[in-house]
Amino acid sequence: MSSYIRYCLVLCALILASAAAFPAQTPKVPTQIPGRDAIFIGDAWYPEQWPESRWEEDLRLMEAANIRMVRIAEFAWSRMEPSEGHYDFEWLDRAIALAAKHNIVVVLGTPTATPPAWLTQKYPDVLRVEENGERAIHGMRAHGSGSSPRYRELCRKITEQMALRYGHNPHVAGWQIDNEQGYAQMSYDEETRRQFQEYLQDKFKTLEDLNTHWTTAYWSQTYDTWQEIPIPVPLESHNPGLALEWKRFTTKTWFDYHKDQIDVLRAHIDPRQFITANFMGFFGGFDHYELSTLLSFASWDDYVGSGHVDRYSNGLTHDLTRGFKRENFWVMETQPGMVNWSPLNNFLNKGEVRAMAWQAIAHGSDGVAYWQWRGALNGQEQIHGSLLGADGTPLPVYAEIQQLGKEFAKVQEAFRGTRPISQVALLNDYDSRWALDLQRHTQKYDYVNVLRSYYQALRPLTQSLDVISPDAPLDSYQLVVAPSLYLIPEARARQLLEFARNGGHLVLGPRAGMKDEFSALLPQRQPGFLVDALGGRVEQFYALEKDFPISGAWGSGESTIWAEQLGKQSPETQVLMKYGKSNGWLDEQPAVLTRAYGKGRITYIGALLDEELMTAAAQWMVKESGVAPVFGPVPSDIEVSRRMGAGKQVFVLINFAQEARTVPLPRTMKLLISDKESNRVELPPYGVEVLAEK
Ligand code: GLA
Repeated sequence: MSSYIRYCLVLCALILASAAAFPAQTPKVPTQIPGRDAIFIGDAWYPEQWPESRWEEDLRLMEAANIRMVRIAEFAWSRMEPSEGHYDFEWLDRAIALAAKHNIVVVLGTPTATPPAWLTQKYPDVLRVEENGERAIHGMRAHGSGSSPRYRELCRKITEQMALRYGHNPHVAGWQIDNEQGYAQMSYDEETRRQFQEYLQDKFKTLEDLNTHWTTAYWSQTYDTWQEIPIPVPLESHNPGLALEWKRFTTKTWFDYHKDQIDVLRAHIDPRQFITANFMGFFGGFDHYELSTLLSFASWDDYVGSGHVDRYSNGLTHDLTRGFKRENFWVMETQPGMVNWSPLNNFLNKGEVRAMAWQAIAHGSDGVAYWQWRGALNGQEQIHGSLLGADGTPLPVYAEIQQLGKEFAKVQEAFRGTRPISQVALLNDYDSRWALDLQRHTQKYDYVNVLRSYYQALRPLTQSLDVISPDAPLDSYQLVVAPSLYLIPEARARQLLEFARNGGHLVLGPRAGMKDEFSALLPQRQPGFLVDALGGRVEQFYALEKDFPISGAWGSGESTIWAEQLGKQSPETQVLMKYGKSNGWLDEQPAVLTRAYGKGRITYIGALLDEELMTAAAQWMVKESGVAPVFGPVPSDIEVSRRMGAGKQVFVLINFAQEARTVPLPRTMKLLISDKESNRVELPPYGVEVLAEK
């Protein structure tokens, strides 16, 4: 079978599988809006902050910058409902119509991150209670309590009014729920505690079960009534089982909060209108996989803050967001040069804003929207980066964004219907991250950094990588890597084993399989239910005071931060790496084990490795799994990515170096940005090229 036919079959299977996984109430709405640009730029626009006489000029300048989308209204509650039950939408009708006149579609934000002053005055109980017991005060944002029934009711009401008004408006493409959910965390009040207890009762059914799973005999924690169970504050001082359930309850709270609004919207809006939420990358406040089941697609807000774009961290976060629904996504906000909230609000270098946008597209985003169009004359964010200055005319970065918009317009057809498809997946698990964060054992063991170190080693070799939940289907992958999969309950172990049995290569990083789903230790050694298949186990783990030598099949280097002494238990298990002279316990002991399993393989890496060894490890994993790079060799500063669609593929090359680079191509290709054919590409610093087959 030709690789092209095989690719088409895999693509069809993936499309069918993702359609089947969709709950009926979540219509699948494409990230590429039918009849509109396949990839586009947009911005956050706040017409309520300006006299109406100014709007036309704003939209004219947007159109001239090739901006095709505006997100509006997400903070405009007091303008839409100036007093309780009195709505004023006429200004918004006019703003939407005017945007349409300039060929700009609208995304409406529900304004529930900023309840008006009349509301919080009249209903002070809707204000969030902080961990220290104090109520939030009006004047900031995200001060409403996500678990307050009254607040939720008020949120539903304003959402319903908006849905009734704009659910069939042809210029409204979709909706964003609230803004950066979880930004201000949970409310720590009695009502929330009651709901938490109810959640626990619903989950465990009996106190006996709860007491057993949490081993509450320890420190006299035994609960005789549900009402005795506290909200765990501070989280890290409490029972790990209780703490993990609190994090899960946080997910449930934000899930219900979103569902409330989504149900109201779906009752009134056209199925063609999408519903999304603007996530905050690796923010760990809730399980994004669960919340994403409610959405048409995921979005995120991509900010650098201080410094410059780190291609690996940024690429990883794009891939994370794509993995929430295993679909393309949007960057709903990104900085037009600088922010106003980080320790040093430096401006990105000339060309960096454009490179950053192209990186988003390369990793599967179909839209990139700038925050914000123009700074309000007053308000907390008046000197944040924007496209226009206080005088209402373009700032220097406007020209760069305008050029980007022109380029997007030029390559529309190459990107239509395409998305990244990979043979390699990194597993990301919120439960494992939370449980580990509560018991790092060494503060240096940072879950996200460990994930990033694996990503940085693997991404240049594969040139395509998915980041997915361990509960996602794994059968389309050849290599699945789980850097810190702390929680491996039996069902999860079964799914991982099935993947390896069917021919996949499963690589476990340190700390794998120590706990069950209640954050209780498994009554086996690590990796728990996978010990027999691996033919090996963790004898003892060590938080390292300093780096120790390690050597073997991948060369010689250092193990750093964390080292596990492994024990080989089967003659079929191979020791790939051993520790050198270190703390006595680890001397000459196995650090990496691998074993053929079914048609595939299981590998366990017990140590964190220095950068060079991590690269060597990644080279071995990729080779052993038969994974080929999606493009071919490129200089190390160049990021190459691929998107595929029916019968086509398109590559994006980005030069992240501060100097020019030449990239030889494997064959003569079309260079879509420079409009020529060539077998090489010259890229200036932050240069970008898009390649298609001739
Ligand atoms: C977040 C918010 C925006 C704005 C920007 C500033 O992403 O969603 O409203 O505050 O930060 O960088």
